[in-house]
Amino acid sequence: MIFVMPDRENSLSLLDEYIDSDNLKDHCKMVAKAMEAYAGKLDKTGGEVEKWWAAGLLHDLDWEKFPDEHPMRAVTHILPPLGYPDDVLYAIKAHAPERTGKTPESEIERYLFACDELAGFMNAVALMRPTGFSGMKISSVNKKLKDKRFAANVPREDIEKGAQLIKKDLNEHIAFMIGVFENS
Ligand SMILES: [Fe+2]
Ligand SMILES: [Fe+2]
Repeated sequence: MIFVMPDRENSLSLLDEYIDSDNLKDHCKMVAKAMEAYAGKLDKTGGEVEKWWAAGLLHDLDWEKFPDEHPMRAVTHILPPLGYPDDVLYAIKAHAPERTGKTPESEIERYLFACDELAGFMNAVALMRPTGFSGMKISSVNKKLKDKRFAANVPREDIEKGAQLIKKDLNEHIAFMIGVFENS
């Protein structure tokens, strides 16, 4: 039997089915956008781009309904029967290594890890600014990263580790992400 990966519309309706919080849905969509942009930058095409987008969109799918099982509930029960491929499932597993024991290794796994916490953090920065992402400077993100009271729940070491995993200077990663979100 051949499984075809669900299309974007199906993935988005899955988000509506499992997540009530608009903030969490927005976070999922932001990470999907960042993943899609990085896939494009890395010259991925077609189905590969779709996988990167889906991994971003669905990485926190079970967070609201199954917080204790996150993200294993999604990768063992929800997504496989729908036809999501293994590399998407592994990437979702690897975004939470402390929960799953799966560390980010493949490219899609490393980029998802790198985009997740930074997207969340940068969204918190954008919410403090009257113009949101528009005109955001790398230095203002860095300033907030150093302020431990700001978005205190976002682990700074994961943001650093993410940039290392994709072999980028953190400033370069932040600049790329500003570019992605500024135009959304
Ligand atoms: Fe998560
Ligand atoms: Fe997340």
